[in-house]
Amino acid sequence: MPSISPAILVTGGTGYIGSHACVELLAAGYAIHVLDNLCNSRRSVQGRIERIAGKAITLHEGDIRDRAFLKDLFAVRRFDAVVHFAGLKAVGESVEKPELYFDNNVRGSGMLLAAMQEAGVRRMVFSSSATVYGETNTPPFTEDAATGPVNPYGQNKLAVEQMLADHARRHEDWRVALLRYFNPVGAHESGLIGEDPNGIPNNLMPYVSLVAAGRLKELSVFGNDFETADGTGVRDYVHVADLAAGHVAALNALDRLPPVRIFNLGTGRGYSVLDVVKEFERASGRAVPYRIAPRRPGDVAVSYADAARAARELDWRAGRGLATMCRDAWRWQQWRAAQPAEL
Ligand code: NAD
Ligand code: WQD
Repeated sequence: MPSISPAILVTGGTGYIGSHACVELLAAGYAIHVLDNLCNSRRSVQGRIERIAGKAITLHEGDIRDRAFLKDLFAVRRFDAVVHFAGLKAVGESVEKPELYFDNNVRGSGMLLAAMQEAGVRRMVFSSSATVYGETNTPPFTEDAATGPVNPYGQNKLAVEQMLADHARRHEDWRVALLRYFNPVGAHESGLIGEDPNGIPNNLMPYVSLVAAGRLKELSVFGNDFETADGTGVRDYVHVADLAAGHVAALNALDRLPPVRIFNLGTGRGYSVLDVVKEFERASGRAVPYRIAPRRPGDVAVSYADAARAARELDWRAGRGLATMCRDAWRWQQWRAAQPAEL
């Protein structure tokens, strides 16, 4: 008799990281159901995931805050686990609209959790962020570093972590992996899926891509007077395909982990803004003009992971280097630019 693939519900699965995770989960033999309200992604991502993976997925269009929708969805079939990406992620917007962010990210996660509890689904992998770490830590950050997020977005992430951890500790058989991503960048090597921000990007790599493509004039480098080798900010950039593989590793390990386990997902090494600019120029063969601008409020000088726990307990390491990250971001940029805007 053919065995039935375990079914995973991927919330936010048409988004940037979620779409790459779908590809990796399909390759690992899971059946995928995506739940997404498409507030920051496009329906066409489904077809591109399927094209890369050579397998079909099911897209359920709806909102994690819609109780009736969730009830129906969990009645459709028995999910083995939920990988929870759905959320709003723009730090600046979270400062302007903290209520919206709390409602979508924290209340939404609470409703998802309640629906899982009711349906008897007891395993979750959650997208958290290195942004939960406080500013007083000295890098590399271990999972035990002090938390102290400085904006509503980061506070949402920590609140959801705490809600999930409390729930898992109070209810039998629950297993939760809280994955704290450092700086996800790059795209699938096919160039068919990647980060597709609306308007002018806030994050470094998408901005640099548009400058290299000649669609933005120059990069503003936010500060060159930090205590780093070249004075610009240092971050732990991690290829999105490695990150996606980290979700499969966490999912596969859930049953042998304690009920709640936090993992940093990063490479464990930092690159400066100017390192990224130079590497992107090499990868694209294009110039990336820049000017030095004032520091951006809230930016720390240096952030990178101690990724030893994920290596030890999940056997996961981020193997792709900065050159591959830039190559794949550029490949995606070129493919995307050749498509109609409304793709
Ligand atoms: P993204 O915006 O590309 O993907 C999020 C997806 O969730 C989108 O497809 C969006 O339409 C969907 N969504 C949002 N609210 C929803 C709701 N209420 N109901 C249903 N669907 C909803 O973002 P991403 O970069 O892929 O990030 C995925 C997750 O990882 C987020 O939770 C984000 O906070 C977290 N994260 C991202 C980064 C990063 O730098 N990209 C870093 C750390 C953590
Ligand atoms: C990287 C470096 C900037 C843009 C953010 C979120 C964090 C997480 C990941 C979700 C910094 C510099 C940037 C530009 C620049 N997301 N920079 N010019 O701030 O490390 O992290 O994304 O969880 O929560 O805060 O990433 O890509 O914005 O910046 O000089 O136009 O590039 O100052 O040193 P960040 P980033």
